Amino acid sequence: MRLPLTFLVPSLLALGACVDTGMPERPDGAAFFAQNCVACHGTYARGDGPLATTLTPPPPDLTQLARNNDGRFPETKTLAYIYGDPQENHLTRVMPNFGKDMALDLVPVDLDGTLTPTPRVLAGLLVYLESIQR
Ligand code: HEC
Repeated sequence: MRLPLTFLVPSLLALGACVDTGMPERPDGAAFFAQNCVACHGTYARGDGPLATTLTPPPPDLTQLARNNDGRFPETKTLAYIYGDPQENHLTRVMPNFGKDMALDLVPVDLDGTLTPTPRVLAGLLVYLESIQR
């Protein structure tokens, strides 16, 4: 079968536009989580990573964030906590900050009802974390 170019070219362009929406998705967040979070929070985010027993306070179970917030996943609070304080001005905490190298690649994310420019990787991470709430 031969498709006329006039049909094919616009179709391919349209397809490209669909595939690259630029919005991060759950698998992106899952990969980032596997690389950066499991040592402390554990493979299934239940707070039982290999380093967990060495930490005070211990890393929390991240599948309970919604339950601990009246059943609603706390988007802004979770994101802010992970982003941290890149200048490390006033935070004494065990968990590292992840905001340091991320500020340049921003996507708009609906955080508790407000569209907020958010580092792309963290937007994906948030989708992932919300998906594992139980
Ligand atoms: C070095 C260990 C460590 C790593 C790595 C780590 N965390 Fe944590 N995390 C903790 C600890 C410990 C706490 C408890 C509060 C504190 O002292 O920092 C915590 C708290 C949190 C909280 C706050 C939970 C609440 O109840 O409000 C979130 C959300 C979180 N971590 C997500 C993540 C994500 C996502 C990653 C990966 C990007 C990550 N953490 C990487 C140790 C870690």
